[in-house]
Amino acid sequence: MAIRKIREMGDPVLNKVCKEVKDITPRVLELIDDMFDTLYEENGVGLAAPQVGILKRIAVIDTTGEDPILLINPKVIETSGEQTGYEGCLSVPGKTGQVTRANYVKVLAYDENLEPFEVEGTELLARALLHEIDHLDGHIYVEKVEGPLQDVEEVED
Ligand code: NI
Repeated sequence: MAIRKIREMGDPVLNKVCKEVKDITPRVLELIDDMFDTLYEENGVGLAAPQVGILKRIAVIDTTGEDPILLINPKVIETSGEQTGYEGCLSVPGKTGQVTRANYVKVLAYDENLEPFEVEGTELLARALLHEIDHLDGHIYVEKVEGPLQDVEEVED
């Protein structure tokens, strides 16, 4: 268990396409534990492996602080609707911007035993699922921001 250093926008590791996970090794399990520790330490909603410098298709999400979701090799299999709202990212500290995404998403992913499962989400969970899966393909939400990237303090005032 350890807190890992979060890579920030401008670090080339965030723009790379991550590799599929084929084996659950002790190193992978340690990475997953550390990703959850780092997510909770930073009060984030989601964290993808490239954000801690590891180019593997692994992401963790928790939109409430009590609903941890581990996604290995996740794939979007269905989307519908649309939502526009403020989004942020631990790799872009202090900033936020409006992004339009699907309001519903269904994702196929694998758990820590590489057993497949599906997860569905609407609103914040849908946004988090799409945001984290984007990271695994080297994309950061700022590419999708409508209007200016804003300081979090400005928006919260
Ligand atoms: Ni992010």
